[in-house]
Amino acid sequence: MAPHRNVELKARDQDPESTLRAALAHGAQDHGVLQQVDTYFAAREGRLKLREERRDGAEPEATLIAYARADAAAARTSAYHLVDVPDPGALTAALDAALGTVVVVQKLRRLLLWEDVRIHLDEVQDLGTFVELEAVAPADSDLGDEHRKVAELRAVLKLEDERVEPRGYAALLLAGGAATPRLVDLARTAMDRAYAPYSNFHVGVALRDETGALHAGANVENGAYPQGNCAEASAIGALVAGGGHRIAEAVVMADTALIVPCGGCRQRLSEFAGPDTPIHLAGPEGVRRTVTLAELLPLAFDLEDAAK
Ligand code: THU
Repeated sequence: MAPHRNVELKARDQDPESTLRAALAHGAQDHGVLQQVDTYFAAREGRLKLREERRDGAEPEATLIAYARADAAAARTSAYHLVDVPDPGALTAALDAALGTVVVVQKLRRLLLWEDVRIHLDEVQDLGTFVELEAVAPADSDLGDEHRKVAELRAVLKLEDERVEPRGYAALLLAGGAATPRLVDLARTAMDRAYAPYSNFHVGVALRDETGALHAGANVENGAYPQGNCAEASAIGALVAGGGHRIAEAVVMADTALIVPCGGCRQRLSEFAGPDTPIHLAGPEGVRRTVTLAELLPLAFDLEDAAK
């Protein structure tokens, strides 16, 4: 199947009513309001989400969508699978039990169409109101037409640069802490599975990468003591092997007053995280304190800076 391509733009919208008026005045057709719930599950590769859509007076529809990560090169947008789902409740329960839910995006979407360009006026739970433009390109298009139409609408709807949002709704919710409970669960499971017969100190670490995928690791000790490794090292190994590149959020858990990563692991985290990356220090019941990497590791060594 040929890759689907589109030209997209998302912007924050403080005044959806005037955006609607401007779009209608420009000749857009109103196709009514849809209620959409996207549930993202923890996939081993790429992303897996169940989209449930309801429209007044129509049967609800549900589709399971598996697709390549957006960051895995924009050109590779063709790898996706769509599966019609007759029983979304049962599928959600099964996937949640087997894989875990990462985040749920709920929105009301008013759909408008102008010259084949979809205009979405979205009210997203916990995020606010947005406008999206989506020009789906025919297979033989050089995208010139799509860019021209999106630019025209952008001017009509006054979507200035500072309102444009490059991230998806799931990423925005994750950045706001939506994955933290799931990361805590993963860290707890990893901690419970730690192999620490010598110290009897069990540590679990869970990491969210830049795409929203979650990874976990436990400490693994060895009868030859120096061969043991910390939970952070295990979790970072899982992140790298799972295709992640950056740490966006971390949970470090142990059943002690306040677990703090050892000095070596602060450096390990620093290889993949930024100074502002949140590190949640957790006990089995949940997060006890959240710090940034810069608080754990001030004046961090960075080979790129050092080599200048
Ligand atoms: N440990 C970790 O896994 N992470 C840390 O940041 C601190 C220490 C482990 C290593 C060893 O298996 C046990 O805790 C006791 O040091």
